[in-house]
Amino acid sequence: MDFKFPPPITQPEVKCTQIFINNEFRNSVNGKTFPTINPTTGEVICQVQEGGKADIDVAVAAARKAFELGSPWRRMDASDRGRLIIKFSDLLERDAVYIGSLETLDNGKPFKDAFLTVFAAVKMLRYFAGLADKNVGQTIPVDGDYFTYTRHEPVGVCGSIIPWNFPIVMWALKFAPAIATGNVVVIKPAEQTPLTALYLAALTKEAGFPPGVVNVVPGFGPTAGAALSEHMDVDKIAFTGSTDVGKIIQIASGKSNLKNVTLELGGKSPNIIMDDVNLDEAVEMAHFALFFNMGQVCIAGSRTYVHEKIYDEFVKKATARAQKRVVGSPWDKETESGPQIDQTQMEKILELIESGKKEGAKLQTGGVRKGDKGYFIESTVFSDVTDNMRIAREEIFGPVQQIIKFKDIDEVIKRANDSSYGLAAAVFTKDLDKAIKVSNGLQAGTVWVNTYHALHTQAPFGGYKMSGIGREFGTYGLQQYTQVKTVTMKISEKNS
Ligand code: NAI
Ligand code: MG
Repeated sequence: MDFKFPPPITQPEVKCTQIFINNEFRNSVNGKTFPTINPTTGEVICQVQEGGKADIDVAVAAARKAFELGSPWRRMDASDRGRLIIKFSDLLERDAVYIGSLETLDNGKPFKDAFLTVFAAVKMLRYFAGLADKNVGQTIPVDGDYFTYTRHEPVGVCGSIIPWNFPIVMWALKFAPAIATGNVVVIKPAEQTPLTALYLAALTKEAGFPPGVVNVVPGFGPTAGAALSEHMDVDKIAFTGSTDVGKIIQIASGKSNLKNVTLELGGKSPNIIMDDVNLDEAVEMAHFALFFNMGQVCIAGSRTYVHEKIYDEFVKKATARAQKRVVGSPWDKETESGPQIDQTQMEKILELIESGKKEGAKLQTGGVRKGDKGYFIESTVFSDVTDNMRIAREEIFGPVQQIIKFKDIDEVIKRANDSSYGLAAAVFTKDLDKAIKVSNGLQAGTVWVNTYHALHTQAPFGGYKMSGIGREFGTYGLQQYTQVKTVTMKISEKNS
């Protein structure tokens, strides 16, 4: 796709602030609202209707009705489901500047990045739209006089609980494979970023989805999110967020109806830099691996392991690069980083920075809040980090780079794997044998060689260990939204 960056709409009008059920916007059952905040200024943008248990019940009932056998949605041809998703993707493309601007307002990410996430979502929608009528089963040569085949049937009412770091992409990622395979969805956006989620809801109506197929209920985790994951009539939850909440959702499934659960959780991804690399390129990629999206990325390269031979030089260059990073208004073209998402996240990051200093890591640059308006943090680099420090073990989710020294390849594989997480990993080397050894040895759902953040709609993504359960993206991702039915027919002898 050829990207042109038009100027943003710096004061986008907020058009949708209500709960979306059955193709209608409505107020919450108990009349509650909550404020959504502009992280660039710390000011309230507007009030949004706050969904709770009662609203989740209404949304799930609407979704269930839309999923009834014989309903327009169940009778729709798979190819027409694909067409509807394509139509919806066209509307996203039409409104990309507005949607990107709304995201910058609510989330604080630089407009350029926000604009690109709209197109990432468009690609994702079109990929899964194309798969809608290609989700084929098998015919199986079983023993005996039988004709056996499998059907890939939709799971049913799919709850999606999504985070605030990539609101548009996450929305599309949970929506597209579910809808392509004929499911119905109840989406709960993160309380920090409800605005683009609600606007996308309006676009599904414009695209022509039947009522009840898509429902979006903004609200908080322990209320709306918990109601969805504990619901007896929800068949699946797809969740992206913290490992702690992932565990709560898994338990909620076990305590309710044993609904299918897929989880995409936290990470502490190792990025291993061998001594044979082009240093400037490796420094730049390691910088991007960590600082992209203000460090608020589950796959952030947050343990930068650097070979001892190039360690000092690497630290010097990485520090200089971080000092050059432009942190400021997300509306400016030159800005590389905007604010963190909210006060809570900012404080969590600053507390972890303090722990790093106390535990003896060397603060090379940054380490403090930037300004007193909004939630900005200076780009921060720590050297002399050791494996047992909190900053080397816990997910910081902020602009804080940890540079750790290693000696040899077997040792670094072992140390990289000594984590409860296993989401992503990378190795930088020109030596093919080393690249293969490290990528085979790392316990991670995604491994990059000489690159970082290279995720693709077509290739599966997910976590080892406590980084998650199941895979998203690609045909592996599609499988998580269907169940396999085996049909066996007796072939009667009498007819032969
Ligand atoms: P979170 O896990 O609390 O929030 C993610 C989503 O889960 C939101 O929609 C939230 O409303 C919902 N949620 C919260 N509690 C819930 C519950 N009891 N039942 C059902 N849903 C619930 O994450 P939070 O508090 O925003 O951030 C905390 C940390 O989590 C971050 O510092 C970061 O380390 C990690 N995180 C990881 C993300 C990822 O992409 N894997 C995204 C966001 C946060
Ligand atoms: Mg906000």
